[in-house]
Amino acid sequence: MSTQWHVAVLIGSLRKGSYTRMMAKEAIAVAPDTLVFEIVEIGNLPLYNQDPDDQKKPPAEWVAFRDRIRRMDAVLFATPEYNRSVPGVLKNAIDVGSRPYGESVWARKPAAVLSVSPGAIGAFGANQHLRQSLVFLNMPPMQAPEAYVGNAAKLLDASGKLTSDSTRQFLRMFMESFATWIDRNAPSPGRA
Ligand code: FNR
Repeated sequence: MSTQWHVAVLIGSLRKGSYTRMMAKEAIAVAPDTLVFEIVEIGNLPLYNQDPDDQKKPPAEWVAFRDRIRRMDAVLFATPEYNRSVPGVLKNAIDVGSRPYGESVWARKPAAVLSVSPGAIGAFGANQHLRQSLVFLNMPPMQAPEAYVGNAAKLLDASGKLTSDSTRQFLRMFMESFATWIDRNAPSPGRA
């Protein structure tokens, strides 16, 4: 039997009708069954401030988030683009997980980036800025295939389902590649 890997999914949009969330769910739907996904919500995390960590009194939301990510084998980041970069809510979650200094929950977890935009260039800027942080966090970021999903509003119906077979096939290939990437790079077997 293949190893099962537990994959956290972080979504960089809090919007109810988020295309990014819809696309992430469609990617999960076509992923190999060796990957077990948990969408980890990030909208409740207080903005990062080093003082509570220095005082050893971090907010309960940070503690719960860090514990949850620590238990995961890998992370899928699904992000829109805000002003050619990563939305603050996602950057905040990354910062929360990266501290206290020396206790980052991200280190060595393989990662993939799925960037989504209703615009034509598929949130390229956000995708690339996110990769810069992943390198610093020592998360092996899957180099290829890259996933820049543009024109998202035209690819999804009102219920959030993909209307494009070619995009579904692309997402399947992307998630199969991610499963292989995790097999090669995750430090320990998953907890099935
Ligand atoms: C945007 N949007 C946007 N789109 C893009 O392709 N590049 C960009 O730099 C920006 N910048 C930007 C800044 C801010 C503050 C907002 C609110 C929006 C548009 C964005 O892609 C659009 O709102 C998406 O629908 C956001 O993703 P979700 O919420 O649908 O997942």
